[in-house]
Amino acid sequence: MWADDAKRMAELGITHVRIAEFAWSRMEPRPGEFVWEWLDEAIETLAAAGLKLVLGTPTASPPKWLIDAHPEVLPVRADGVRWNFGSRRHYDISSEIYRRECVRFVTAMAGRYGRHPSIVAWQTDNELGCHDTVPSYSPAALKRFQAWLQLRYESVNALNEVWGNVFWSMEYPSFDAIGLPNLTPTDANPIHLLDFRRFMSEEVGSFHREQIEVLRQHAPNADLLHNFMGFFTTFDHYRFAEDNAIDVAAWDSYPIARTESIALPEEQKARYARTAHPDVSAFDHDRYRTIGGGRFWVMEQQAGPVNWASWNPVPAKGMVRLWAYEAFAHGAELVSYFRWRQCPFAQEQMHSGLNLPNNELSPGGLEVQQAAREIAASAALSGLGAPKRAATAIVFDYETQWMFEIQRHGKTFDYQMLVFDYYEALRELGLDVDIVSSKADLSQYRLVVVPSIAVIDETLVGQIEKSSAQWVFGPRSGSKTTAFAIPSSLPPGALQKVLPMQVLEVETLRPTLTPALSFGDIEGVAMHWREHVRANGDTRVDAQFDDAWPAVLSRGKVLYVAAWLSHGLHRAVLAQAANEAGIETQLLADGLRIRRRGDLTFAFNFGEQQVEVPASVNATFVLGQRELATGDVCAWRDAQTD
Ligand code: GAL
Repeated sequence: MWADDAKRMAELGITHVRIAEFAWSRMEPRPGEFVWEWLDEAIETLAAAGLKLVLGTPTASPPKWLIDAHPEVLPVRADGVRWNFGSRRHYDISSEIYRRECVRFVTAMAGRYGRHPSIVAWQTDNELGCHDTVPSYSPAALKRFQAWLQLRYESVNALNEVWGNVFWSMEYPSFDAIGLPNLTPTDANPIHLLDFRRFMSEEVGSFHREQIEVLRQHAPNADLLHNFMGFFTTFDHYRFAEDNAIDVAAWDSYPIARTESIALPEEQKARYARTAHPDVSAFDHDRYRTIGGGRFWVMEQQAGPVNWASWNPVPAKGMVRLWAYEAFAHGAELVSYFRWRQCPFAQEQMHSGLNLPNNELSPGGLEVQQAAREIAASAALSGLGAPKRAATAIVFDYETQWMFEIQRHGKTFDYQMLVFDYYEALRELGLDVDIVSSKADLSQYRLVVVPSIAVIDETLVGQIEKSSAQWVFGPRSGSKTTAFAIPSSLPPGALQKVLPMQVLEVETLRPTLTPALSFGDIEGVAMHWREHVRANGDTRVDAQFDDAWPAVLSRGKVLYVAAWLSHGLHRAVLAQAANEAGIETQLLADGLRIRRRGDLTFAFNFGEQQVEVPASVNATFVLGQRELATGDVCAWRDAQTD
């Protein structure tokens, strides 16, 4: 089928093909016995059709002979049970045996193909951490964790002190006496859990880096990347990407399945069951663009129904085409699909592709063909410039995610969903957003939104002091030290330097507890989380709850929101902050989103109604038109930018 596949791919408008990311058992059927001929043929067949290749290292699926020779490569779950062979990702990231095997294999593979002119990129492994495989509670992980702690704390007394191990007699006599934080009758010490998460996050990075070192040597001209996942926070992606560990951030976008699997209210899941929530993909486009230093790809785009969410509906007509344009509008260099052809056997036989199992283009495949043809026919669309820095930044912080998962305090407190709520509000106001690390240079932004950040250090306070931006901080900001303790000055810790106030008590709110407030003419409630705070010095109280506790406080350009507010209130607070920052906002029609790239503005209709897009009267449309139907996309150039 291969020659025909290659020909049909090129005809469809496909330019890049990723292959081999799980094919270890075919490349090395027996230890040390490499069989490359089939892969040579696949590569030559695709290259002959003018296609460029992305080669995946197959280390997400160690073959059976390797597991039989080294069963300790299988990871151990938190309940102490070892996973079995028989699916994928069955390896312990801390296993030194496995790491050696990976370097050995990748050296052979990269040595053979690294300088092939058609292989323009390499992907390491596949979706590191997928299926909850970051943590392993194995002897190998324990040994490396102890060494990691020793490096960090130098003496066990220092560790006991920082961890507060005097509490409940948890003091350790030596580093090798420290265990992993699983199988404890009640909560393990939160800093023990946090340090384990920090350690595991670094393990993921160092596992990937071992392959990158080999690939840089053998494939010096290729782009090196990894395919990250949406809404996935188990390792720190900013740190992962540091020091040229990747050239491009690639990620796998499954909007409908993601909408179904994140903690959105049921009515939103119902409403967007076939279109996906309008911000769910955009959120990760805007996050991975900055992680990739401006360069990002969609490595796997949903092309029809998938197989892994609680329910897997067929996308509404037009969505597969819309998602491609959405990715491009947010700055993607490339959108690739999972998968070329639905595979009629094994685990993913219920997962669609661009082709049905009989090689007929699927409905999604036809939409991809349409998008590819439209882009090829339009100079404006095929020559999109690089995306510009947005005026608005949202700070997303992985350690905050871990800390608030370790100490949720209330069943429904979910940091990433808080960030998402703020993001959604900014996008409803028609804004472009960069999602960034708190350690990034934030000086160029006019509005910096920090939905929450557990630790506020002097560097961040320095950024605030230096910048002329408006800053919005949400609840729980500055509520912890790096040692996972409450700051002695009380939360929000070092933020008090620019915004004198103190958090005296905090409460999580069951759905029946709803302190009410209004901000301007918008009314709403606190949900999930609220703080009882005291304004100090010249800090102003801009809004208060019906029981008189301050809800929104500010001093100059810094504003603090002392609760998780209902959505309309978040939007009202952000609209005001944007306006103070001199950023124009416009409340978009329900379900409509816009995104600017180069001199074009794209609009996407995820709503049920046809809507008019907010283009100026003299705008020139390069795609679609002013009236936008459900599931449709348009793009225009505003008259003044001509
Ligand atoms: C991704 C993975 C692919 C495939 C796909 C199905 O997680 O990288 O190999 O399993 O999901 O949606």
